[in-house]
Amino acid sequence: MDSTDLVGLDLQVPCRLFNKGNSVAFKEIKTLEDSLYGAGIEEESRRSFASQVQARAIHPLESHFSQDKVIPLGVETAFAASFVERFGAGTEAAVKAFLDEIRNGCRLAEAKKDCFVDSPVAREMGTLYPFIQGAMSWITDVPEFASRVADAGGLPTIALGLMDAETLDRRLGCLPEIMGGRPYAVNVVSLAENPFRETHLTWIKKQRPRFVVIAGGDLSPIRELIERGIEVMYIAPDEALLRLALEAGVRYVVCEGYEAGGHVGQHSTLTLAQMVLDLKRDQPSLFQNCRVILAGGIFNRATAFMAAMLGADAIQMGTAYLATQEIVETDALTALYQRMILKSPPWGTVVS
Ligand SMILES: Cc1cc2nc3c(=O)[nH]c(=O)nc-3n(C[C@H](O)[C@H](O)[C@H](O)COP(=O)(O)O)c2cc1C
Repeated sequence: MDSTDLVGLDLQVPCRLFNKGNSVAFKEIKTLEDSLYGAGIEEESRRSFASQVQARAIHPLESHFSQDKVIPLGVETAFAASFVERFGAGTEAAVKAFLDEIRNGCRLAEAKKDCFVDSPVAREMGTLYPFIQGAMSWITDVPEFASRVADAGGLPTIALGLMDAETLDRRLGCLPEIMGGRPYAVNVVSLAENPFRETHLTWIKKQRPRFVVIAGGDLSPIRELIERGIEVMYIAPDEALLRLALEAGVRYVVCEGYEAGGHVGQHSTLTLAQMVLDLKRDQPSLFQNCRVILAGGIFNRATAFMAAMLGADAIQMGTAYLATQEIVETDALTALYQRMILKSPPWGTVVS
């Protein structure tokens, strides 16, 4: 999965290319993107970028996978080896085995139909459903909204965003009282760029919420939080960090794809879920004590069911909560913001 990389996102001409970290062609294309982006997203720059990628690309039959050639590749290449291992390399046998797997999947669907109603993970988290309301900076920092999410059976997450110590105390001082013993999570963006990271971690250690959701990749706070009895949920953007988190003793990993609001990672939710499924097949012991939470693009019955079929123990949703009446009633969101969302078409957002 880490052998391909996206370029052209900033220019809105995304291309996925083969790159094991040492591709000279990839670096050149990236530099080109940066220089064109600096000049603004003009139609001219986008066209020039696309034609230069095309000029460097090589036909697969002529490719020797040299470092100076661009090789367009889908991320599913990461699953090619496991496909061959499970289904064989011959087309006929592979198709038959593949169809058998689909039949098995359909049988599994029956067993999954109540998985979010009667859920061991929900019982473990102390909620009715295994639904986590994802942190949303500047929105889900209202204790009353958290309380309403808990009333509805979910696990609320408070986003600490960029609050300083004084604001934390003023806005969230009443949180334990309002939640009254019901579980909740607090989200910290664990990046060096977050100027309030240490303030947030100190506040969390004092407050001792039942769960902390760590976003931003940096794993360093995990051990101490676990030692203090705070359960860590870690947002794992790729396989390497997922492994490190599991080795550090994290029991809840959130695999969040680039469909997620407020997050533009390298991989889709579907790709991350397949990565976990492959890893689980290969090294089940790695996941022995761990719950997998999928996030990104989950917002209705079909997408929640897809997540269950992909092995999710729980799901995290963000955007869907923006459409709730409670989020406006508790002043976490303005009615205008919500109206804009409810009116927006599928192409109403762009990646920037
Ligand atoms: C407006 C907005 C702000 C967000 N802010 C944060 C944040 O501060 N920290 C974080 O870890 N995730 C943040 N997220 C991601 C959500 O917690 C959640 O994982 C994501 O929305 C799930 O995908 P979905 O929007 O497709 O349901 C944000 C999402 C949105 C829509």
